[in-house]
Amino acid sequence: MISLKDVKKFYGEVKAVDGVNLDVKKGSFLTVLGPSGSGKSTLLYLIGGLTRPVSGDIVVDNENISNYTERELNIYRNKKIGFIFQMYYLIPELDVLDNVLLPLRIAYSRITDREIDTAIRLLKRLRMGEKVRCLPFTLSGGEQQRVAIARALITKPSVILADEPTGNLDRENGEHIYALLKELNENLDITTILVTHDEHITGLFPNIIHMIDGKIFNHR
Ligand SMILES: Nc1ncnc2c1ncn2[C@@H]1O[C@H](COP(=O)(O)OP(=O)(O)OP(=O)(O)O)[C@@H](O)[C@H]1O
Ligand SMILES: [Mg+2]
Repeated sequence: MISLKDVKKFYGEVKAVDGVNLDVKKGSFLTVLGPSGSGKSTLLYLIGGLTRPVSGDIVVDNENISNYTERELNIYRNKKIGFIFQMYYLIPELDVLDNVLLPLRIAYSRITDREIDTAIRLLKRLRMGEKVRCLPFTLSGGEQQRVAIARALITKPSVILADEPTGNLDRENGEHIYALLKELNENLDITTILVTHDEHITGLFPNIIHMIDGKIFNHR
């Protein structure tokens, strides 16, 4: 489903991603481990269409997104990709429900009652049903991350890209987020790429690649 061929992304002298070849099957769960600065985030941004490679091809569902116009990339990101970041990036002035609905507002400007129902069901499933009218600053880190996950899911993405989603959480909350990502992957067949520093998750997610200096190795 996702296929990278000799993908490179340089920032001046820095070879952030340096000739990566990678195939991710539909519905699979891939974990990317690697030290700080090894290019993990850059790799996710490339796949998510947030940045462009200097060379190489990124093919998603048989379409080469490297050739997309800005407009096509916007649609691609909104329709296909759910991003979960280490910093949750919730809008502080919007309550939980409106934060979750934001991607739909950006895509369609008008929100239907059905979409509001979907958002509330999603929040209930993430154990946030009691908090739909709360503002982000009143939530714990784990709760904020669950809102960010609901926001990533509201557009029914076929791909989730999670960049250190537990980086700001304690171990218990972190494990809950991992379990949730795994459940979404298994139950909704969402192709998932997880980037993390967390070496202790290796037992939880068997499909792991390592990244060092922009290159991938140990591809199992
Ligand atoms: N926008 C940018 N401009 C210049 N250099 C950048 C930019 N983004 C990333 N880099 C550089 O590219 C390299 C890879 O960065 P990247 O953020 O992908 O690493 P990472 O593996 O995600 O690290 P971390 O674990 O700390 O998040 C680093 O040397 C970084 O400084
Ligand atoms: Mg990073």
